[in-house]
Amino acid sequence: MSLKVLVTGGTGAVGSQLCDFLAGQNFEVSVLSRRKNENSRYTTYLWDYKHALIDKKALENCDYIVHLAGAGIADSRWTSERKREILESRIKTTSLIYKALSTVDHKVKAIISASAVGYYGQINSDHIYVEDDPPGEDFVAQVCQKWEEESRKFENLGIRTVQFRIGIVLMKKGGALEKMALPFNYNVGAVLASGKQIIPWIHVVDLLRMILLGIQSSEMKGPYNACSPHPVSNSAFSKLLAKTLNKPILLPNIPEFVLKTILGKRAVLLTAGSRVSSQKIINSGFKFNHPELEPCLRDILT
Ligand SMILES: NC(=O)c1ccc[n+]([C@@H]2O[C@H](COP(=O)([O-])OP(=O)(O)OC[C@H]3O[C@@H](n4cnc5c(N)ncnc54)[C@H](OP(=O)(O)O)[C@@H]3O)[C@@H](O)[C@H]2O)c1
Repeated sequence: MSLKVLVTGGTGAVGSQLCDFLAGQNFEVSVLSRRKNENSRYTTYLWDYKHALIDKKALENCDYIVHLAGAGIADSRWTSERKREILESRIKTTSLIYKALSTVDHKVKAIISASAVGYYGQINSDHIYVEDDPPGEDFVAQVCQKWEEESRKFENLGIRTVQFRIGIVLMKKGGALEKMALPFNYNVGAVLASGKQIIPWIHVVDLLRMILLGIQSSEMKGPYNACSPHPVSNSAFSKLLAKTLNKPILLPNIPEFVLKTILGKRAVLLTAGSRVSSQKIINSGFKFNHPELEPCLRDILT
């Protein structure tokens, strides 16, 4: 009999691919979503964290939960209302599942939760961040810290928890790469700010395989950086992207103040970044299919 996995955020850029990937691995996949999707091939259960509503049928006979749901961190300007949505859509959804599981006779063995490398803070530093490093102090770091804390509470229910601190997920549709490639396709691609800021990245297929390992490996517990072992600077990334797309870089670097004017405070997601180590997940037996950026970009874009 198939094991059952419930995916929150299963309609999103990563989640939709995860559902297909897990179904291909013979899991029985269902989705917890804010809206019904008649066209989905997966059973969809509804929830609404703003009104503390969740269809408890979603949890019946569920073996694993992958919790990806959350308002897009880079999708719009960080007004105080948006910041609250970014935080609450992660914390309150997590606690809603927790409360629901506390009241039913469940058989959930593990919950795998998204987090982000932003946990360490969006800063330019020579330090290579490992999972034991303390969280940063900025907005995204605080969101990730609270999100992970909330996820760890499932251990009180005897459920194993894994938190993946995800880097920029490279995929064809729906992720950051599509937006990064767009200006290059119009010959207006450029290096951002100093270009020295580091981009921790991961090929989506490696992330899906990592989540599968998180489900299957009862040894895995706690936070793991989910990034390739070879992060690169924004300058190196931009040059490899231009090369892969067969486009020139004609413009000078786009200055930080221009990015801040266009994007507001979230520009920091583009102008700062440090290396994170992938050693812990490698030590757990994970082998990257796409450790190097150039072949990864070729795989996705050509
Ligand atoms: N993609 C990346 O590069 C990246 C990097 C680091 C971390 N992550 C994290 O990984 C997770 C998945 O990423 P993704 O790129 O697949 O995200 P995504 O495409 O933005 O999808 C997120 C899903 O979360 C749900 N959602 C969106 N806004 C919500 C809200 N206000 N309240 C409750 N649910 C909401 C939606 O599902 P429904 O509409 O079905 O409810 C949506 O499909 C996210 O939590 C993200 O922060 C992603």
